[in-house]
Amino acid sequence: MWCFQQYYPSMELLRYTNSGTEATLLALRLAAAYTGKYKVAKFEGHYHGGYDQMLVSVSPSIEKAGPEKEPFSLPDSKGIDPYHLEHTIVLPFNDLESCESILRKHQDEIGALVLEPIQGGFIPAEQEFMDGIRSLTKQLGIVLIFDEVKTCFRVGLGGAQALYRIKPDLTALGKVIGGGYPIGVVGGNREIMMTSAPVAAADVFDASQSKRSSAQDVLFHSGTYNGHPMILAAGLATMNVLEKESEMVFSRTEELKQELESMFQKKNIPMKAIGIGSIFSVVLTNKENIRNYRDLQEADFLTRRDIDFYLLNEGIYTKPLNRYSLSTAHTNEVIQKTILAYERVLNKLFA
Ligand SMILES: Cc1ncc(COP(=O)(O)O)c(C=O)c1O
Repeated sequence: MWCFQQYYPSMELLRYTNSGTEATLLALRLAAAYTGKYKVAKFEGHYHGGYDQMLVSVSPSIEKAGPEKEPFSLPDSKGIDPYHLEHTIVLPFNDLESCESILRKHQDEIGALVLEPIQGGFIPAEQEFMDGIRSLTKQLGIVLIFDEVKTCFRVGLGGAQALYRIKPDLTALGKVIGGGYPIGVVGGNREIMMTSAPVAAADVFDASQSKRSSAQDVLFHSGTYNGHPMILAAGLATMNVLEKESEMVFSRTEELKQELESMFQKKNIPMKAIGIGSIFSVVLTNKENIRNYRDLQEADFLTRRDIDFYLLNEGIYTKPLNRYSLSTAHTNEVIQKTILAYERVLNKLFA
């Protein structure tokens, strides 16, 4: 019988939500309840869902984003209460020294550090950085949350935590695990997860005055469709397919990456196909190493935009300026068709 813990042993207990957004939101509340500290730290350029607390410095304008080593907290949407800019602290990815100095400064206020272990699904954390973040958060009493909504079952069946051999305190999963239907999962350390166990108290829906204790004594989590059986069945069916076919998806992705890189190389266009497993992005850059949001800003997005548009005219839709996420639906035939379309596009654009 398939179970999450088989691939994600760090998820000792888990709860279902309806989306990745709700999963990270719940993880943050669990961390706050467990630590009694309400500020959160996140990385510049990392996305965790569309709510106020996390719509901070996902894609800030570089002119306004402040120093690279201590980025400002900037809103990513209209309507974000400035309160969140004060309470969400922004860190530079893959820069352990700067992270340490910021985290130490706010250690009495920060209850959670949430990150995409592979930024945007394609810019990997360096192993040393990841090891450092794990031991630092442990030392400072900060709950480490891996947001693996994108990376789960994509960078390997066990996600980024298996790749890096790191045990986060909490993990948020989503996307792939619903097999195309809306889902999120939060799981992790038993003691932290137990903060939401209904054994502690009655919850907000218990209107009787004979409560064992106040709803404030338990972490609230509920949702009409949480753990919907149809969605879980779709997810289970997807897992069964991926167990057999994910290696094939990974090798097709690798083939596409290599073909594209050599095609660009022949035309003397600096490009890196960056990513692991079944996700990567075509980044037009001269930079040796893309390590974070600031590095990415130096890439040639205008040409990438042209490529996306020309590919669309060839019948190939790539999410504009974004990563490519491959699946079992991308057969050899589809990969070959994409490669040929790319060839025609590059010939047109760089004749
Ligand atoms: C890393 C990450 N976290 C959270 C989310 C939010 O998930 P959802 O769109 O299911 O709410 C996303 C969605 O793109 C994501 O990529």
